[in-house]
Order: sequence, then structure tokens, then C-alpha cells
Amino acid sequence: MSDNKVQIFDTTLRDGEQVPGCKLNTQQKLVIAERLDLLGVDIIEAGFPVSSPGDFTSVNEIAKIVKNATVCGLTRAVKNDIKVAAEALKYAKKPRIHTGIGTSDSHIKYKFNSTQDKVIERGIAAVKYAKSFVEDVEFYAEDAGRTDNEFLARVCEEMIKAGATVLNIPDTTGYCLPEEYGEKIKYLKENVNGIDKVTISCHCHNDLGLATANSIAGAINGARQIECTINGIGERAGNTALEEVVMIMKQHPYLHLNTDINSKLLYDTSLMVSESMGMMVQPNKAIVGANAFAHSSGIHQDGVIKNRETYEIIDPAEVGVTESAIVLTARSGRAALAYRAKKIGYELTKLQLDEVYKEFLNYADRKKEVVNDDIHEIMKTVSVETAV
Ligand code: KIV
Ligand code: ZN
Repeated sequence: MSDNKVQIFDTTLRDGEQVPGCKLNTQQKLVIAERLDLLGVDIIEAGFPVSSPGDFTSVNEIAKIVKNATVCGLTRAVKNDIKVAAEALKYAKKPRIHTGIGTSDSHIKYKFNSTQDKVIERGIAAVKYAKSFVEDVEFYAEDAGRTDNEFLARVCEEMIKAGATVLNIPDTTGYCLPEEYGEKIKYLKENVNGIDKVTISCHCHNDLGLATANSIAGAINGARQIECTINGIGERAGNTALEEVVMIMKQHPYLHLNTDINSKLLYDTSLMVSESMGMMVQPNKAIVGANAFAHSSGIHQDGVIKNRETYEIIDPAEVGVTESAIVLTARSGRAALAYRAKKIGYELTKLQLDEVYKEFLNYADRKKEVVNDDIHEIMKTVSVETAV
């Protein structure tokens, strides 16, 4: 694997599915898992097998059908969770157990009523036990975002000694600033013995809208796995959006970070997840939102019609969107109207365009968007002949 490759760990079917009211059945999960494999994700976190019989079955069935990706199951640092996950993953070509425990002061005090040393002991025991089933064991230090760096480094070093192959540094509560999260990864790279033998993973939540920025800051500072979900779905304000981190790395080649994702499948995958979860994508969502490649103000439309690059940093075809949309509204200018009119068969002279534009503005003031049928109506009132 190249030093610059960032592995994409998709957790749509585990952390993503924790969205209230968005439960998927096994069949739906299988369809999504196949699509994620086709998309080129490196790891599919298929579920939390001990959490319910349904989740066990889903992980088990996904493990059977996934051809390329590693299939991963989540556990707590609890023996039975790990045993059940190993059983669920037994048919996977490349199985991974993802185990871990909270490491921040508040988790240690309120969740476990325990001490730092005891938490480390539980982590070591969990990693060692998981290792007795599979070679690939990922350890998560839950709430690492709010964990003291010195203690976190100790935790990481002990988990490497116990056999962990991947160290997940979750910003569970979405608290960190990008600089702070990037510094945390850098600190671990510089202060943990054996760190170069393992992969550091970013798992960032979006409570302050910083999940994507934090994940990229982590990768810039040496993390080589990003945990994310399609459309950024997940607990509370969600997880890092897969489509965002992938396109950031693609659009900024000087970062020298790359992935194996086939970006042309991003838009369709987003639709598939949104439909099966019954969870709409906000129209202004980066990369996959309905308005991500739509232009409605006159100034922007004029620019895009002359050359797409004036207002678009991504060619929509790169993410599987057929073309940019020029939306006709009261903010549109003559260029946009002439462009659309030509598309539906009307070649207008300058004089005709002036006349049609006046009537167009009357329509546009009454309606949110002027559509093709409206333009045909307008053409009748000003008696312009069709050019084609
Ligand atoms: O946000 C988090 O800390 C998690 C862990 C269980 C990996 O989802
Ligand atoms: Zn999470």
C-alpha cells in the first residue's frame, strides 16, 4: 500500500444506522454493503453483532457476500461481545474486530466508575482476546477527542503491544477544532513507541460541523484511515461524510493523499442510502445535495454558461451527476434564459430576448422557479418562432 493512501472505513451500516428512526433490515443492508464494496471502500463496518439477533444476522450475511473490502464488527471491551463478533464474521474473507473503551476522564468516571490503569487493563485484555480470533484488530479509545494526550499515548502504546493493528482516535462528541485534532494525531505519531507499525484512524462526529475538517487534519498529520458514512449520517449531528473527505483529497492533489474510491458512484450511492433509510439529503449538502451543482443567480449563471470553472470546483460528472443545473428564478439574467430557451428549441435574437425576458420576469416574480412549460407559454405570448 502506498504511504499516501488513506483507507476509507465506511460505518454507514453501524454508526450511520444509529440515526433515530432509520432502521434497515438485513436485505437492505446487503444491498448497501454490495454497493460500498463496488464503490471501493476498504473496510465496511457491518454492525454491532452482540447488540441484537438482527444485527448479528446482518453482519454474518454481509461477511458472506463482500468480495473485496474487509468486513468489521464492533464490540465493547467485553469478552462475550468479542466472541459473538468473531462468530458473526467467521465467513468474511478479511475479518476485523473493532473493540475499545472510553478513555476520557468523564467516561472513566461516569461510565465505568473506574481508573485510568483499570481502563488500560480492560483494553489490553479485549485486544488480546480479539486477537485469538482474528489477525486484524482495531482498538478505539472512545472520546479520544477529550482525552489527555499523554494518557492517550500510553493507551495507544499498550494496545500496540497487545497486538492492535489499527488505533482509532474518535472525536466521539465532535468537540475538537481541526488544529487541535491534527495536533493530537501528530503528538501520537511522535510520542508512541511502535506507532509506525499500525494505522491511525480518524473517527470524527459532526456536533460543531467540523467532522470533515477534523478528519482531513488527522490525515494531513499522519492518520491513514478515515471512518465515515454516506451523506454523513449518524448519531446526533452525524459522522464525517464519505463523499466530502474523498473529494477533498481528490481536489487537492498537493496534499498527496489518495483513496481507491470510484467517485463516479458517489451520487448514486448517496441516493440509494437516502432512499433506503427514508432520510432526505439536505439540498445544500456538499457534493451530493440537489443544489450542489445548481446555479440560480444571474451573475453565477452567466459565468457558468461561459465556462463551468468560473463557479464550479468539481466537474459534476466526477461524482456521477449528469450536468450542472441552471435554475431559472427572478434572480436569473438574460444569458440563462437564452441558454435554456435554446436547449428547448428557441433561438432568440437580441430584440426577441429583451421582449421574452420582460415576460419571464413577471412569471419569475409569481413563481419560485420558471420551468420549461412556462417558457413555452411565454413564447406564445411574444410569438417567437422555434429555431429547430
Ligand atoms: O464515536 C465513537 O467513539 C464510536 C466508537 C464506538 C468507535 O462510534
Ligand atoms: Zn461514532
